[in-house]
Amino acid sequence: MAPFDGNDPLGESDRDSADDDVVAKQQAFQQTFPLETDRLIIREMEPEDVDAFQELISHPEFHYYYFDGSRARTEAFVNEAIENRKAGERGELRRSFMMAVENKTTGALIGHVTVDMLDKAPDDYDLAYFIHPDHWGRGYATEAAAGFLKALFNTVAPEQVVATAHPENIASRKLLKHVGFKETGKMTQIDSADGKGERLWYRLEPRNFHDLHPNA
Ligand SMILES: CC(C)(COP(=O)(O)OP(=O)(O)OC[C@H]1O[C@@H](n2cnc3c(N)ncnc32)[C@H](O)[C@@H]1OP(=O)(O)O)[C@@H](O)C(=O)NCCC(=O)NCCS
Repeated sequence: MAPFDGNDPLGESDRDSADDDVVAKQQAFQQTFPLETDRLIIREMEPEDVDAFQELISHPEFHYYYFDGSRARTEAFVNEAIENRKAGERGELRRSFMMAVENKTTGALIGHVTVDMLDKAPDDYDLAYFIHPDHWGRGYATEAAAGFLKALFNTVAPEQVVATAHPENIASRKLLKHVGFKETGKMTQIDSADGKGERLWYRLEPRNFHDLHPNA
């Protein structure tokens, strides 16, 4: 996720009618939230979510490139999500759709799923996600990603969604495969909170998603 400074991040001054079309599609996507799947609710973030996210990221087994463990970083994460939602509500191009993932039965916040619009590429979105370690291995991340992507393809209809995964992140790589992503290559020298290293690139085209999820 690229840093978001709130200062005309997508060059609104250069906006044209093609962008207006993207905004209309993004607004349809935005209106799908809160979005229900079998066991989950995917919803916009609220300021009150900071405590639950801080508890989640403080789990000793949890690692995600964005966080450094500080509450300030967690607050920045939630604030970024809210600022992006407000941009969408103002009818601007929305850079990110950073969502909270809730357990439908308990109402507990158990994770996060997002797509970030890549700079100046409205047909290109980048998927990322995480789940609280107490809930790993129950299919929640796969369910959240599939439900989220279904809504994205049915509204924004991007030409592709990309994602990256560390080679050793088996759970993430399995999830991407389950949802329909194809591995397309590798890259190195990524600067992030967890340092530099190799990452695998993945790409999802709508037809690959719909082949695996025919009722989507
Ligand atoms: C990646 C992550 C989101 C997966 O969450 P999850 O809810 O456990 O995922 P799912 O239950 O949908 O499982 C997806 C697959 O990974 C497998 N899996 C889950 N945890 C695993 C683990 N620790 N080791 C190996 N495989 C694992 C599951 O069995 C499943 O594969 P299967 O269907 O073949 O059995 C979670 O591990 C996480 O939050 N990791 C930290 C953040 C991160 O790495 N995010 C991805 C980068 S954007």
